[in-house]
Amino acid sequence: MQHKKIKAFPENFLWGGSTSAYQIEGAWDKDGKGPSVMDMGKHPDAVTDFKVASNHYDLYKTDVALMAEMGFKAYRFSIAWTRIYPTGTGEINPKGIEFYNNLINELIEKGIEPVVTMYHFDLPYALEEKGGWSNRETIDAFENYAKTLFTHFGDRVKYWLTINEQNTLILHGKAIGSVDPNLENPEKELYQQNHHMLLAQAKAMRLCHEMVTDAKVGPAPNIQLVYPASSKPEDVIAAQNFNSIRNWLYLDMACYGRYNSTVWSYFEEKGYTPTIEDGDMEILASGKPNFIAFNYYNTFTVEQSVPENTEGNHTGDEHLTIGESGVYNGHTNPHLQKTEFGWEVDPVGFRATLREIYERYNLPLLVTENGLGAYDKLEEGDIVNDDYRIEYLRKHLEQAQLAITDGVELLGYCPWSAIDLVSTHQGISKRYGFIYVNRDEFDLKDMRRIRKQSFYWFQKLIETNGKSLND
Ligand code: BG6
Repeated sequence: MQHKKIKAFPENFLWGGSTSAYQIEGAWDKDGKGPSVMDMGKHPDAVTDFKVASNHYDLYKTDVALMAEMGFKAYRFSIAWTRIYPTGTGEINPKGIEFYNNLINELIEKGIEPVVTMYHFDLPYALEEKGGWSNRETIDAFENYAKTLFTHFGDRVKYWLTINEQNTLILHGKAIGSVDPNLENPEKELYQQNHHMLLAQAKAMRLCHEMVTDAKVGPAPNIQLVYPASSKPEDVIAAQNFNSIRNWLYLDMACYGRYNSTVWSYFEEKGYTPTIEDGDMEILASGKPNFIAFNYYNTFTVEQSVPENTEGNHTGDEHLTIGESGVYNGHTNPHLQKTEFGWEVDPVGFRATLREIYERYNLPLLVTENGLGAYDKLEEGDIVNDDYRIEYLRKHLEQAQLAITDGVELLGYCPWSAIDLVSTHQGISKRYGFIYVNRDEFDLKDMRRIRKQSFYWFQKLIETNGKSLND
């Protein structure tokens, strides 16, 4: 639809940025923190681990001051479960509570709304050793952890996100390391884990409503619309398949507590049906979100896959998917350009995704990730000219504004990432931030923070509540 008049960004729009604990904090074993699966994961030789990351643990005051200078209204970050409970359960680590109290207080003092992800990929390693999400005890551990978060931080944190990108954890679990790839039917195990995570999420949402009555809670999946490669009806069916499996499964469960029919028939066909215990469906139906947070980087395009097509199922990267035999087959979209890391760029798809989610679930939306990973260059005089990032963000925000004009209720936009951090798979050289962190893969240098060009651009955008978008 073409509009003659474009609506303004709403007043009190949550302009901000996002990070996650294991990618930014460093101090991986400091002050009693226990190891998480991310700390224990293997890294390719050319890529750094998460041990030091951007050392936000020690430098959080500097970072928050810079966010405030940019004008952030919100900061979306995750709490490391292993700082609060080093082994996932048992005794609380007071130092962990202290760190997040300090961070939250610092944000509030600067007028920045804390938006907290409870769990962003970094399951306590001690729980992983006991079977991780395959073990139903992890559901109780998560509920107990959620209770602790609401008890200690609920007086100041009013926006809670349950689990970051549960769908990429499941679809790319082998890459993220959440399932043993040697299992005979790893997908079956992953969908059992998925069922348990959904139960944990529903319980946490329910608890949030009981304990912090003025807070809002929601899921945070990665939602990117799936297009058919052509108008061939079989391609349309393939797109419906993958939309249901990749996107709607997670939001249907969070919002309505039910498995959609396409997903269920896919489970039956493939032998992935999870075991559902008595009472599970009631728990799932009882966890109601107040809003939907979601991460968006690109769209997918798929074509029909015939059963004899035995091409590999999933790649190692959470944003690239090849296909699944008899279900869908990945297809390069000829209308889109790619980043230097091979991810398609689709700002119009962002508008389409926003509209689709809003129309399906009729809940306010919050964008908790969107951004461009690039090899930024630090030039003499502390200059980082990341025009390409400005262009990327500008185009996405233009489409967000069109979606708002289309009627979507958008609470805010927190791109990835507030400051440079270690990418999940591709180290610190794949940078996303408005603020440059002066370190390389293995040379930690001085870690100083440097404002990129995008910092000033975003600052002006926030100051004008989006009006400078077309300057
Ligand atoms: C999202 C994750 O999938 O994408 C982040 O929530 C991640 O943790 C981001 O960093 C970008 O992906 P990558 O692989 O470039 O770090």
